[in-house]
Parts: sequence; C-alpha cells; structure tokens
Amino acid sequence: MQVTISSGNNINGTLVLPLFEGEEALPEIVEGIPTTLKSQINRVLADGDFKAKANATMTLVGTEGGKAMLIGLGKTDKADVHAYREAGASVVASCKKVHGSDLTVVFHDADLACMTSFAEGMMLRDYAYDLYKKNDDEDDDIKLSARINCNEGDTTALSAAIDRAASIVSGVHLSRDLGNCPPNDMYPMAFAEKAELWAKQYDNVKVEIIDYEAAKRHGMGGLVAVGMGSSRKPCMVIFTLNGDQKGQHPMLVGKGITFDTGGISLKPGANMDEMKYDMGGSATVFGTMEALASSGYPGKVVAITCMAENMPAANAQRPGDVITTLSGKTVEVLNTDAEGRLVLSDGLWKAGTDYEPEYIVDFATLTGACVVALGHEATGLWSNDDDFRTRIHEAGNDVGELAWPMPLLPAFEKEMTGSKIADTRNLGAGRYGGANTAAAFLKQFVPNRGEGDDAEQITWAHMDIAGTYWGAKTNKMVNHGATGVHVRTMVRLITGE
Ligand code: BES
Ligand code: ZN
Ligand code: ZN
Repeated sequence: MQVTISSGNNINGTLVLPLFEGEEALPEIVEGIPTTLKSQINRVLADGDFKAKANATMTLVGTEGGKAMLIGLGKTDKADVHAYREAGASVVASCKKVHGSDLTVVFHDADLACMTSFAEGMMLRDYAYDLYKKNDDEDDDIKLSARINCNEGDTTALSAAIDRAASIVSGVHLSRDLGNCPPNDMYPMAFAEKAELWAKQYDNVKVEIIDYEAAKRHGMGGLVAVGMGSSRKPCMVIFTLNGDQKGQHPMLVGKGITFDTGGISLKPGANMDEMKYDMGGSATVFGTMEALASSGYPGKVVAITCMAENMPAANAQRPGDVITTLSGKTVEVLNTDAEGRLVLSDGLWKAGTDYEPEYIVDFATLTGACVVALGHEATGLWSNDDDFRTRIHEAGNDVGELAWPMPLLPAFEKEMTGSKIADTRNLGAGRYGGANTAAAFLKQFVPNRGEGDDAEQITWAHMDIAGTYWGAKTNKMVNHGATGVHVRTMVRLITGE
C-alpha cells in the first residue's frame, strides 16, 4: 500500500475518519465533504448509531456523492499508538469494493506518532499471500492507496516517519512471504537463494551460504544430523549488514526448519501441514535484515539462519544417536522431533565464536510446550541477562508485540546435561517444562567471552515464537497465516527508534 501525505483539505476517494468515543458531531477540521454526506455523518454521530468503540467501523455512502468510513479509536484517554495502529489495520480489514482504491485519512487531535502508527497499521494489514491463487476474487485485487491530510508544518516529519514505517513493513511482509511459502518451494537452498538474490539490491549487505558439504567439513554436527535425511540438504545462511563497521554488533540467529515431520520420531498427521512454518525463526531474522537495510540503518548487524528439512528416511538420524556439534559438545538425540535446538546449537556457537556480538538473540518455533504455556498471545522470552531480557520485553511492548519473561533455571540446565553417555541430551527427563528445558539446552551452546577467570557468557536471549508466528487470531495486523512477528521488536531494540 502506498501512503502519501498532503497538507491540503481535498478528499480523494473514500474519507477515512478516525473518531473518539463520545464525539457527537463531525470535528470542524474536516472539510471538503459533500454536504449531504456531512449531514449523514452528523446524524449517525448525534443519534449514537456509531459509538466509535475501538476498531468499530461504519461505512456511509453519500446520497449525493462521496463515501466515508468511520473508524473508532475508543476512549480519548486510551487512544495511544497501539490503538491507532489497530484502528489503521481495522480500516484495511474492512475495505470492500465499495470503498474503491483511494482513501483519504483526516485526523483530529492526533500527534505525529499516532498518525504514523495508524499508517503503519494500514500498511501492515494490507497483505495477502496470493502467489498460488490463479483465480483470484476481484475484491482481493484492489490495490489500496491512502493519503493522509495533515498540517503544512507536519508534512516533512510525517512523510519521513511514514517512509521509515514502510521500510519496516517491507521486512514484516518479507517474513510473512517466507513463512507462508509452501514447503515444496521453500527448502533450505531455496531460502538461501532468495537471500542471495535479495542481497543484490543493497551495496552494504552480504550473504554467505555454507552448503551441506561445507557444513560437514566445518563439523556442524547438529545441522547435518537434522538435515541429512532429506533430499533437500541443509545449509547455513549468514547475512551481514554494514560489515565494514568495526566493533561489537547485534547478532541474530534463526531456526529454519523448512518442514518438520518430526523425523524418525514422526509427528501425528493432524495439522502436520502447519510445520511449514517451522522456519519462522529464520524468516524473522531475514525480515529484520530487510527492515534494517531498507530503512538505511548504518550500524553493523549479522544474522545466521540454520536451514534444514527434518524428514524420516533411511539416511535420517535415529533416536539414540550421539552427535558432535560445532562446539565440540556431544548430544544424545533422544527424540528426532526436538531438532530445532540441534540446528541452533551450531548457529549459536558460530555466532559467538566467529563474530563479535554485543548480544545474540535467537528466534525459533521451538516447542509446543511454549504454546501450552502462553497460547498465541505472547512469545516466550529467556535470557542469561535480566536487564537485557527486560530491554527486549520493553521493545516488544513499545511496538505491540508481547514477549513474556520465562525462567532459565539451573535445574533445567542440569536436566539437559544429565545424559548418561553424552555431554547433553536433546529431550527433558520428564514431560513438564518443555519450553524451559529447550531454552536451557540452547544455553549450553552460547560461548563465553574472554578466558579464564574473566570468562563470561555472551549476553543472549532466546525467543520461542511457536505460538506467535502463526495461528495468532487476536493479532489485528494479520488476517491469517504467518504473522511476521518481532521484526518490529528487533528494529526497535537495535535502532532504539
Ligand atoms: N517445531 C516443533 C515445535 C512446534 C510445535 C512449533 C507446535 C509449533 C507448534 C518442534 O521441533 C518440536 O517438535 N518440538 C517438540 C519437542 C519435544 C519432542 C521435546 C515438541 O514441542 O513437542
Ligand atoms: Zn520437531
Ligand atoms: Zn521443529
């Protein structure tokens, strides 16, 4: 969706009118509306037929021309940036053929941040994954453009803010495209090739692919074990933004299982198709790099995605196998369906040893247990640094993407390092706390900074997005499918904006 700014009062196409609860007449600032439409709106407001409850919409077609969509912002004192973002998304969700393709939004009493957030909500929600729909409905085909009317003095700042929001939205939509892509077309090397192609458009971005043969040579035993049973072989993809910058930098790592059958520990058949989203972590990381690159972020950021397809096969790993990961630590593989942690063990180790991370954040659709704990409402968030965990939690709150603090307890680490025959085991000893034991396992593969007495584990956070990357029905920015969650959280964390 194209969003432009205008300092005029003209209304082009459908007027979109954000209103607070309790407003009984059209605000004076709104000009240029056909007289009959204006009186229709005033009547609806005076009669209390439109109460402007948050995200409620009403469409009015003027008897003598003009159309309007009223959109509720809820109570004035509660109308923060989140309310505006959701209202913007609700407008797009309610757009039908009758509204046409052009919208003009006229705010009153909205500051720059709220107007930007409304535009962001419109852009985020204006998404459809219709690549494979050959007979598309006409309604879905309407390409929306929106114009925001604002004061002359605000145009430059608002225009810059909306351009930046559009860049970030392009990252969210890229994450969603990758997540929604069917698994016959989204396999490890296909993801890698998309990354290479993407990088060509930026001078300050580099993409490196560690293919199957190289992964074997380097000793990436986790990645290799998970991916070897598939004819689509595993790979690692490394994205570098502004690589010529010196010093410490943020580091992202993503789980990229392009399809998770469970392997020899085969999953039940029901809803197995959903396991195409098991590369949601890698999509989050890729989307974040796009958001940062396209918004012109000048700092260095490196991201690693660990790509594999988890298949049952004659040459697949077995429950009972012991593998040696890139760190040199061994893992007793007690369940081949706990594969995300295996590929991440190599990604985390590489991130901490080959780069200079200020911190590492990993993203993974890691456990069903996390969905049991938090539903689809919040991402599970673990960290070895309480302050860092709080920073991520707050960055998430700032952009309306909840990440909930979860415990990284020594008892869980003990459980995961309690194998009788190897350094670690990939399965907890019991049924309970599965999201926490998974996080505790990952922690074993985060390297230290420094040596000897000065050694300290690199600041690290783990985000389990199993419940929030899809199936999140209450996420107003999304109709269905992959959500693209946490691209905006990461942009906020990294850029501070
Ligand atoms: N990809 C799944 C986790 C998952 C489950 C994501 C449901 C989204 C929805 C992961 O690889 C997995 O299978 N985890 C197992 C771990 C278990 C075997 C310890 C799980 O959660 O059941
Ligand atoms: Zn699995
Ligand atoms: Zn998985």
